[in-house]
Amino acid sequence: MDRSGRHFLQIPGPTNVPDRVLRAMAAPTIDHRGPDFAALAREVLDGLKTVFKTAHPVIAFPASGTGAWEAALVNTLSPGDRVLMVETGHFATLWRNLATRFGLDVEFLEGDWRRGAEPERIEARLAADTGHAIRAVAVVHNETSTGAASRIGAIRQAMDAAGHPALLFVDTISSLASIDFRMDEWRVDVAVGCSQKGLMLPPGLGFNAIGPRALEASETAALARAYWDWRPMLENNARGFFPYTPATNLLFGLREALAMLADEGLERVFARHDRHAEATRRAVRAWGLEVLCLEPTEYSSSLTAVLLPEGQDADAFRRVVLAAFNMSLGTGLGRLKGRVFRIGHLGDFNDLALIGTLGGVEMGLALAGIPHTPGGTAAALAHLTDARRNSADKSH
Ligand SMILES: Cc1ncc(COP(=O)(O)O)c(C=O)c1O
Repeated sequence: MDRSGRHFLQIPGPTNVPDRVLRAMAAPTIDHRGPDFAALAREVLDGLKTVFKTAHPVIAFPASGTGAWEAALVNTLSPGDRVLMVETGHFATLWRNLATRFGLDVEFLEGDWRRGAEPERIEARLAADTGHAIRAVAVVHNETSTGAASRIGAIRQAMDAAGHPALLFVDTISSLASIDFRMDEWRVDVAVGCSQKGLMLPPGLGFNAIGPRALEASETAALARAYWDWRPMLENNARGFFPYTPATNLLFGLREALAMLADEGLERVFARHDRHAEATRRAVRAWGLEVLCLEPTEYSSSLTAVLLPEGQDADAFRRVVLAAFNMSLGTGLGRLKGRVFRIGHLGDFNDLALIGTLGGVEMGLALAGIPHTPGGTAAALAHLTDARRNSADKSH
């Protein structure tokens, strides 16, 4: 196995951690009850509001994304409450399973794992719920298993059109800081996020952004909560502290990552992700392979899932790429196991890193004997060159 040079970590999270962030984390851990910590906590919790596009509080648990999923539910709901969830793919299914284990009455709108949540179907379901039994609608913004991004703004409009008061919970785990998400404009009640994707950090921080209606619901919610309880977290955070030991060094990293995002500008970060996603799709089509997501308005800008021809083993292909080029691609999850591989193009990423990634895929396709047409990388190069030329023209 050739291990010289950098490993290409092109799974859709955890993503590559920039050197700046690594250096920021390589600092002595400080007293989490002292004044320096309070300044750090205030700065990062405030900075996160910009990324979620919210004026409401954002809290950071020492946790993976799954913990933040759980926190969203246990703080707002009571046993037996009905929740409408949408089967966009593997992660939506895991969130549904988690909700079911808490005794919530989950209604799962079936999906084919090739598109986002359909606003029309949500509207129809809510309109039929004239007694308003549904307490919450929960949607995964960017379904990391399929590369389909749901249109949250349209889902909010659908809920409004149905005149339904359900809370709206959104998993932004693989969209935050990669694909535009607007907590306040879309009146999302709880947004769930975590550190290891667009925020360019290692795993270990799980976020809840909490809207006013969710906070109100948390006063009467009866599901048991202890570690995930928002109340002590919010009370302590207001003074710059945590109710238990925080992930201090990850917060050092978060401060640096937020500074990087602010330097580049969020809108430019989103445009960069859009560009890399479009270049990737052009490569996939030029190879004669299929993008799993069928709905062009829902293509994910943070990853692309590539469907291999029937009879080809996507995991065998991934093993070839890892052995030959020291690059990790995302595996197919759940019912997509062996059928797709996923290219992560999110986080700390640029044009040349994308070309390296696609070059590795193209060489891997040849080595693994997957039927394809060479030239996908060249198609991506042409797109990236055009995009540069157009932006240079505009800046003259
Ligand atoms: C969309 C989405 N939701 C939830 C999760 C679960 O997060 P974690 O593995 O950090 O618990 C993931 C993980 O990749 C994800 O992509």
